[in-house]
This record gives sequence, C-alpha cells and structure tokens, in this order.
Amino acid sequence: MAHPTPTPLLELKDICKTFNGSVSWRGRSSNGVQAVDQATLALYPGETLGLVGETGSGKSTLGRIALRLIEPSSGNVIFEGQDITHLSARLMREKRQRMQMVFQDPYGSLDPRMSVDKLVSEPLVVHNVAFAQRQEKMHAALEQVGLDPSLAHRYPHEFSGGQRQRIGIARAMVLDPAFLVLDEPVSALDVSIQAQVLNLLHEIQIRTGVSYLFIAHDLSVVRHISHRVAVMYLGRIVEIGTRDAIYNRPKHPYTVSLLSAVPIPDPVLERARKRIPLIGEIGSANNTPSGCRFHPRCPRAHEIAQQKNIAKQKLGAIEIPVVCATQDPALVGSDTEQACACHFPHETL
Ligand SMILES: Nc1ncnc2c1ncn2[C@@H]1O[C@H](COP(=O)(O)OP(=O)(O)OP(=O)(O)O)[C@@H](O)[C@H]1O
Ligand code: SF4
Ligand SMILES: [Mg+2]
Repeated sequence: MAHPTPTPLLELKDICKTFNGSVSWRGRSSNGVQAVDQATLALYPGETLGLVGETGSGKSTLGRIALRLIEPSSGNVIFEGQDITHLSARLMREKRQRMQMVFQDPYGSLDPRMSVDKLVSEPLVVHNVAFAQRQEKMHAALEQVGLDPSLAHRYPHEFSGGQRQRIGIARAMVLDPAFLVLDEPVSALDVSIQAQVLNLLHEIQIRTGVSYLFIAHDLSVVRHISHRVAVMYLGRIVEIGTRDAIYNRPKHPYTVSLLSAVPIPDPVLERARKRIPLIGEIGSANNTPSGCRFHPRCPRAHEIAQQKNIAKQKLGAIEIPVVCATQDPALVGSDTEQACACHFPHETL
C-alpha cells in the first residue's frame, strides 16, 4: 500500500458551510444549518482517505466542497498547490479534468436515455477532446473497469448494478483525473459485488496513482480500502489517522463507539465484543452544542466525571466535566499518524 508523502494533493483548510442562513465573518450562522464547521484535512497523492460519520455529519457536503461543486461559506480549497477557492468558472472547468466524482446510486447518476459510449465520452466532449481520441479513450476507460467496449452501444438499464457502477467509474476516470470523490460508491450494491468494485478501485489506484476521498457509513468497507481515515461529527473532523491507528487504537470516544458497533467476523471475538452505545441521536446541525459538540452523547464524559476529581456539571440525570460542556477541543496530533479533538482521549484500550 502507498504511504502518504509530505506534499498534499488536496488541502481543505478551516472549511465552513452554512446552508440557508446569514453568515458572519467566521462563517458561523445562528439560524442556518451549519453542515461543515472548521473542517481541515489533507489528501496525499496515491492514497485513499476514508471519511466516516453518522448521517448528517457533513461528509457529502465536504466532498462536494473539495470539488467546488458547492461553495464554502469560508475556508480554502488548495488543489495541486493552487488555491482554487475563488477560481473563475472558466479556470475551474479546466481543473475539473483533474478531479471527478462517483456517486452512490449508479441508477440515478447515469442518464437512462444515453448509451454507455455517450455517457463515458461526455466528459471528453465537454473538455473538447478530438473525436478520434475520444473513441480510443472511451474504449480504454471501459477496459480499465472490466467492461467489454463492444457493449458500449447499450443503455444503462441493460447492465447489472455492479456493471452500472463500473460505467460510473469509467466516466469519472476517462479524463485521467488525479483525484476522485467517491460518495458511498458501493452502499447500493450486494456484498459480493461490493468486494469486486472495491478491488477494482484498488487496482485502478495502483495503476494510475489517483487519490480517493472515500465517503461511507460502513466502517468495514472503509477499513478494507483506506490508507487513512477521518471521522466526522456534526460538521467537524474529530479524529484522523492511519487506518491501523483508527481501527486498532482509536482515541476519540465517538470513534470508539462507532467501532464498537461493527460486527467481527470471528464468532468467538464477536461474542466477546463490548458495545459502547452512544447516548441519544446525532445532534442537529442547526443547533450545535456548546463546548465539545459531542458532549450530549459522550459515554466517556460521564465516565471521566465519575472517576476524576474535576469540576463537573449536570447533564440531565448524569454529570459530565465542565470543560466538555464549555470548551471546544482542538484537533491535536499529526494527521498522518493520529490526531484527535477531545479533552480526555482514550490512550490505550
Ligand atoms: N442543500 C442543502 N440545504 C440545506 N441543508 C443541507 C443541504 N445539504 C445538506 N444539508 C444539511 O447539512 C447537513 C450535512 O449533510 P450531508 O449531506 O453533508 O451529510 P452526510 O454526512 O453526507 O449524511 P449522509 O450520510 O446521510 O449522506 C445535514 O444536516 C443536512 O440536512
Ligand atoms: S471532550 Fe469530553 S465530551 Fe468531548 S469527546 Fe472528549 S470526553 Fe467526550
Ligand atoms: Mg452523504
């Protein structure tokens, strides 16, 4: 597996995104939905960064901002060393050759009225590639994803779900991009087909050096494909690190709870698995809690308040440390090893 190198391909710096609200100079709003709140991350050439978190945590919004399909309210998007946050539509169009997206739903994201050759060639037409080259590149893209180019005259409904996702990947790869956002690319597929598509993505990465931002709910899928993993909660990256650090030595209580819910294939280990349930549902992105945004749901805050002689305050029937309810923890550590935003991170488990 490739290891991150020090020069990022993509950097997202202090990204905020508020939907339907007035935005202050810090990108904060009192009445809109704060979908992303000061999210910072880097993606390195040839790597896969998994982005996980519960529904509504802001994963898709952040992925779309990385491609500038959505404008951030504040913060910067740096791609290949260039700040593209305010790049004109004309210059952004050129950049888009280098950055593409694969969607969750291969049924909904492919126009059913277009044949496969037209679907896969469309980005080449948009970017004024000559007709002779288009045919060649379209065939190569189909072969790259394991589809027979002689079937290219057919329509999406004539293919299976897995084949349709291959068509979506061929369309995204036809311009030879450096960066793909894959937003839940296998969650609509059967488990056996999921593995085939994940293996295909891995092979394409080895062959081309493309980097992936891989968004998913399923932590087993993310573990399979990622070099590093970022965990998002209510618009913020709360933990990021190498796959082994995140899965074997998670520090943030949210990561620990998410991982404790993942079934283990070994029946003995599965029986011994200790679940650490979260308290309640994910909070609302239009009313982010004070202090640590995770504090209303954090099992560790309750545990720490019981164990340590520190200032505490009531939260319903339980007590939590005052610092959890009042001070927003910064992300501390190295994003290429492990960084965590918590006043009382787990050190060892
Ligand atoms: N266009 C929009 N207008 C208003 N609110 C939005 C819009 N898009 C997203 N949101 C809100 O922003 C928050 C983050 O949404 P987002 O889709 O990025 O989350 P997600 O992590 O991708 O969730 P899921 O796992 O369900 O796909 C949610 O509260 C969502 O309702
Ligand atoms: S800062 Fe406190 S509330 Fe937040 S995750 Fe850490 S222990 Fe839990
Ligand atoms: Mg999403």
